[in-house]
Parts: sequence; structure tokens; C-alpha cells
Amino acid sequence: MTTHSQAHALPQPPTPARLGILLSGRGSNFLAIAQAIADGRIPAASIAIVLANVEDAPGLDAARRLGLPTACFVSRGRTRAQHDADVIACLRQHQVDLVCLAGYMRLLSPAFIAAFPQRILNIHPSLLPAFPGLDAQTQAFDYGCTLAGCTVHFVDEHLDHGVIILQRAVPVLPTDDAHTLAQRILEQEHQAYPEAIARVLSGHYQITGRRYLPIP
Ligand code: GAR
Repeated sequence: MTTHSQAHALPQPPTPARLGILLSGRGSNFLAIAQAIADGRIPAASIAIVLANVEDAPGLDAARRLGLPTACFVSRGRTRAQHDADVIACLRQHQVDLVCLAGYMRLLSPAFIAAFPQRILNIHPSLLPAFPGLDAQTQAFDYGCTLAGCTVHFVDEHLDHGVIILQRAVPVLPTDDAHTLAQRILEQEHQAYPEAIARVLSGHYQITGRRYLPIP
């Protein structure tokens, strides 16, 4: 007897992508991502785990208050390889599809990059390749830039370096100090990161050399 159940099967909704958020501090970008998922601006996604490398990271508390699974692996005093092995195992245990660094102030080991190829994103508060590293907003302000901004990029072994997905420019106003500039950049970060995640999860792009090219 033959059955035709396959032909009449209803289309299945796509399985939601499972995000792993890594942070070291405040967690405002994490909260912007969580809000964007709740609003449907990142379709078919859920946060599988929020992981910190600093015990008292406020972002970890914020995640607990939202009822999300959390983990903390303190990195101080451990080698990068040891620490990353724990983080990778945790991300795998939570079946993470896409890793989002959200103020995670650590360089990833080659083993970490290899474990999630083209599946790790980062946000940085400058128009890369200008001002990688710490206090990028102050670096741009002190340099006298008239244009600053933020960048969302794929992560590779180098600091704030991988293929750029999107950038948002922020003018430096004559009335600015480094703090007001950082605040306005942060507002753009909170828009840019969810948008970049949605773009990557859509799969409608290709990477050619260092260029991220959307596929209509
Ligand atoms: C953000 O400004 C993010 O761009 C930056 O850390 C801050 C974290 O804030 N990341 C880097 O500088 C990475 N090199 P948050 O904890 O409120 O999201």
C-alpha cells in the first residue's frame, strides 16, 4: 500500500535559530537583541544561553531577570585555550547556531573560530578598521574625527577584524564630549546589531574575499 501523506504535509515553520550571547559587562546590546526578537525584528530566533566571563557582569543579572539560561566561566587566571574549551562545550550543549559577542572583551582562540565557522558576530563602537580595541569612541573623539560610528562584523582570530556586515555612521558634533558621542553611537549599535543578525539568519548573502554581499 502506498501513502500520500508526504504530498499533503503542511509546510513546517523554520526551526528557530538558537543564539548564544557572550558578554563581559553592562549588556545593553544583549537587551537590544532580546527586545528585537520579542518585537519580531529578528524572525525565527531565540536566545539559547547568555554566557559571561566575568562573575558580576550586570548583563548576566539582566538575563536572569528575563528568565534566560545563563552561564559564567571566569576567564581570569586561565589560558585562552582552557577557557574557550569550556565556552565551546557550553554553547554546543545549548545547541547554539549563532554566537553573538555583545561587549565580550576577549579575543577568541583559533579553536573557537573553527568550532563556529562564519557563525560568530561582534559589534564594535567605531567605523572599522579605524580604532579597534578598547575605548574606541574616546579614540575617535580624541583623534578629532568628524564622523564616528559602529560596525557589526564576522569574527576571526584578529581583534575587531573580520568581514563587515554593516556599519552605521554617527556625526561628531561640536558640542560633544567622548561620553555624549559614545551614547549616540550606542543608540545606533542597538539598531545595527539586531539588523545584522536578521540579515545573517536570512542566509541571503555571500562573502567574496572581505566583502559581504546581500543576495536579493
Ligand atoms: C559596546 O559599545 C560594544 O560595541 C563594545 O562594548 C560595549 C558593550 O556595551 N564592544 C567592543 O568594544 C568590542 N571590541 P554593552 O555591554 O552595553 O552591550
